[in-house]
Amino acid sequence: NTQAYQAQYRPQVHFSPAQHWMNDPNGMVYFNHTYHLFFQYYPNDIIWGPMHWGHAVSKDLIHWKELPIALYPDSLGYIFSGSAVVDSNNTSGFGKNGQIPLIAIFTHHDPKREAEKRDDFENQSLAFSLDGGATWTKYTGNPVLKNPGIRDFRDPKVMWYAPEKKWIMTLATQDRISFYSAPDLKNWKKESEFGIKAGAHGGVWECPDLFALKMSGKTYWVLVVNLNPGGPNGGSATQYFIGDFDGSKFIPIDNRTKWLDYGPDEYAGITWSNTGERKIFLGWMSNWQYANQVPTQAWRNATTIPRELSLQLSKGEILLASKPVPELKNIAEKPIALKQRLVNHSLDLSLYTNKLGSRYILKLTPRTLKDYCLRLSNTKGEELLIGYDPVKDQYYIDRTRAGKLDFQKNFSGRFTAPRLTLAKNSDINIVVDKSSVELFADGGLTTMTAIYFPTEDFNNLAIKTSGQLTLINLSISGLNPIWK
Ligand code: FRU
Repeated sequence: NTQAYQAQYRPQVHFSPAQHWMNDPNGMVYFNHTYHLFFQYYPNDIIWGPMHWGHAVSKDLIHWKELPIALYPDSLGYIFSGSAVVDSNNTSGFGKNGQIPLIAIFTHHDPKREAEKRDDFENQSLAFSLDGGATWTKYTGNPVLKNPGIRDFRDPKVMWYAPEKKWIMTLATQDRISFYSAPDLKNWKKESEFGIKAGAHGGVWECPDLFALKMSGKTYWVLVVNLNPGGPNGGSATQYFIGDFDGSKFIPIDNRTKWLDYGPDEYAGITWSNTGERKIFLGWMSNWQYANQVPTQAWRNATTIPRELSLQLSKGEILLASKPVPELKNIAEKPIALKQRLVNHSLDLSLYTNKLGSRYILKLTPRTLKDYCLRLSNTKGEELLIGYDPVKDQYYIDRTRAGKLDFQKNFSGRFTAPRLTLAKNSDINIVVDKSSVELFADGGLTTMTAIYFPTEDFNNLAIKTSGQLTLINLSISGLNPIWK
């Protein structure tokens, strides 16, 4: 397997399965000091096909061990996206002799019914594990939530609603979210709908998530809704709403569209269950526009860096901010730090990045709000630009000259995102891997993810500005490969 992870473009600090196709992260649950990650997986090819749940585990969210496939397609269909919970009170009755069951709630997608042009081909089902997630048994009473005749009826995210001792299922139902409740994970009753007049609707709503987060001691509810297509930079993307949830209905503060990640390559992101007040988000690092065509061999697609979510008040609005989980420090080398450094048009940093194998984390704090651009490049003249434009008050990632582009017409592009703060400088944090960059600007208020495929690693780095810019701080830490 170590050899599999040496392949060209293979992420060295992000999870990707050793071989074959992956899309959405699924069933993320923390149990017995272990983070479980399941994912949409097709074990026979590097294109999307009959879906399975692949499986990987980690103790620190950074180092992953891939395990055997957890769920295979069956007579009810493919195993589409969903979630997993710890049923501590054994409400489901699957636990035997005091064992705590882990329960996976997923969509059974039936290709036969779909081919017959029926509308009820997506139904919700259960599987349980009595050995801490190692092996899974499908419930004989599947499906537990039958389709009422809605073609897109999928991606259940389940949580325990303690005030009423019941489970809440947040389900993507075409152009809206439907909430269901059940005392036992089996008998679901519809509670309400949300979204027909809220947010972005350039495509179908998929992979939702609902969770509480505190800000200044007050609890808010966050509803995450993935959308495909219709993202801010084309194709698939993740939007969210902030409001209240009363056990039955979600009531947003407003209906405006907010994006969790503005880049082209974060999709289907949701959070781990059973992590207490900490909310850890993970997305799929691709876009349905070209996920099946990206130029990798033997494997295809990866996850983002796990991100810790928080609420922040900015310009009078409550926003969701994302930061790489602090566990990323587990693989970070001692940083090279430049303090109070004047950049006169350009400062070459290749001396520092040349030996880092294009895996590093870079933090930049400029003194003033002025233009800058980080240029990652190689000896072939290919480049990736990541920067801030004060005229438009936007961040951007430009991959129009970043190597291979022509595998799909929408891949090449310059992507932008608004700066969402009035702060007096624009600090950023970027996580660079072999073929991806994640930008966390202004404490994670603006986040952008992009993948790229240079014909040679981007080992060089320079920072550019028009005229002069003083950097209060610039630090670069190499990141050690997670596969050793
Ligand atoms: C999102 C999605 C889900 C679905 C899964 C199928 O990327 O389309 O809605 O469950 O992928 O693989």
